[in-house]
Amino acid sequence: MYEDPEVCICLRISLSDILQAIEQGGIEDVEALIRKTKAGSVCKMCISPENDPCGERDIHLTDLLK
Ligand code: FES
Repeated sequence: MYEDPEVCICLRISLSDILQAIEQGGIEDVEALIRKTKAGSVCKMCISPENDPCGERDIHLTDLLK
């Protein structure tokens, strides 16, 4: 069965939620993605590997924008 991992654990925002927001367009950078989805607005570890030095998150917002 297809699993939809949570990207932002704090706010329980899934990978499909993030990809859908990106597909809708108008997301030029990670700040815009955070504004639109609220992902990354709590502990901030899901934003990028730099924000997550212990590697606690599997997926980061910056990876999804590449
Ligand atoms: S995991 Fe996204 S803000 Fe904490």
